[in-house]
Amino acid sequence: MDRIRIVGGQRLNGTIPISGAKNATLPLMIAGLLTDETLILENVPRLADVVLLQRILGNHGVDIMIAGKRSGADPNGGRTIHISAKQIVDTTAPYEMVSQMRASFWVIAPLVARMGEARVSMPGGCAIGTRPVDLLIMAMQALGAEIEIDGGYVIARAKKGLRGGRIVFPKVTVGGTHTALMAATLARGTTEIENAAREPEVADVADCLNKMGARISGAGTPRIVVEGVDRLNGARHSVLPDRIETGTYAMAVAMTGGDVLLQNARAPLLQAALDVIGRAGATVTETNEGIRIARNGSDLRPIDVSTAPFPGFPTDLQAQLMALMTRADGTSHITETIFENRFMHVQELARLGARIQLHGDTATIEGVKRLRGAPVMATDLRASVSLVIAALAAEGETTVNRVYHLDRGFERLEAKLGACGAQIERLSA
Ligand code: UD1
Repeated sequence: MDRIRIVGGQRLNGTIPISGAKNATLPLMIAGLLTDETLILENVPRLADVVLLQRILGNHGVDIMIAGKRSGADPNGGRTIHISAKQIVDTTAPYEMVSQMRASFWVIAPLVARMGEARVSMPGGCAIGTRPVDLLIMAMQALGAEIEIDGGYVIARAKKGLRGGRIVFPKVTVGGTHTALMAATLARGTTEIENAAREPEVADVADCLNKMGARISGAGTPRIVVEGVDRLNGARHSVLPDRIETGTYAMAVAMTGGDVLLQNARAPLLQAALDVIGRAGATVTETNEGIRIARNGSDLRPIDVSTAPFPGFPTDLQAQLMALMTRADGTSHITETIFENRFMHVQELARLGARIQLHGDTATIEGVKRLRGAPVMATDLRASVSLVIAALAAEGETTVNRVYHLDRGFERLEAKLGACGAQIERLSA
């Protein structure tokens, strides 16, 4: 298994290109199941999760073509993929596949909408507490699907097609909102989704679905209305920039000091996180090309933050912020409100010398003057990148084991950081 070796202490200076968002790419690829025409996605990041979803969709009969590199094209730029679900040959999403990536459960919506049935394994994915699918099932039922659970599989049927309905989510769920949206596009009549997730990736998917002929309004607000249509067509859509990758590198620069342009990044996608980084002592500047982050010499200030659904501070940046606060000049508090048990990075950060105490859903982080390199273990996607951030500022050498978690969500991490002066390399097993 690959490892990443980091020797800390270098400032970061230069440019980091921000990739297309993983959390938009996955539902966009799944939306390709809704039409028998070709959906073309541009700015698709090169990630293990994208490859895995490609395999899962292939199992349903979807052809995915990755466009050949054009001469002169930026070899590091995002890729263009053509998704063609002309014929769906299988409506089962098996355990071996869904258990590897939770988002693949979302195929349930387009499969039922288009084929009238689906048999989808209960999901797996990052080990960050119980992550049920009850609200996704509730949304499908509200649109007329009959649900049965058998042998670890959710079986959904709507032989006469889905019909519009009113879905009121008791808590904000990104996956629930994606599922409801996709299912409603092909349902008969009007669907109202209340307390919808406002995450930018939801709006990006709705934007693409509208290009495919769907009639969705209100995406990006808590109330989305969908007028069902008979069929959807092909379209071309470019994936929005990854706000979590942006925030991660912004925190890395805040941690090490230096001056980095996060190219293609868009500030409105992560304003809450940029505000926190600014309060911590880094300078955040929006430019035509992206976002510049700089910190020169000043101490890091401690912060109190709670995670929240968009537009709040994202849970997917909680571990990275905690890494940053390990070096703050004082005591910080970070409260996780979205996922229980999303604190697996705490023990590993402690191996580098961090002082963190957990009380329920709140971590108290007492800033230390120095971290020291050590072997650490990545446990989930965001936790593992928090260890990278800490290692960049630690004295000496850190090896991060089990980096396949990083490859799921961060494109060419070591190349991007290395180009800005970090001493980082991948050690192949
Ligand atoms: C998505 C993101 C993930 C991010 C999360 C929250 C993708 C591919 N993943 O995950 O990176 O951390 O949003 O921003 O986009 N819940 C239920 N019942 C359900 C569904 C969810 O109780 O049926 C709960 C969850 O346990 C959690 C909360 O709702 O406490 C939010 O989860 P949700 O927004 O659904 O997360 P995902 O869509 O899985």
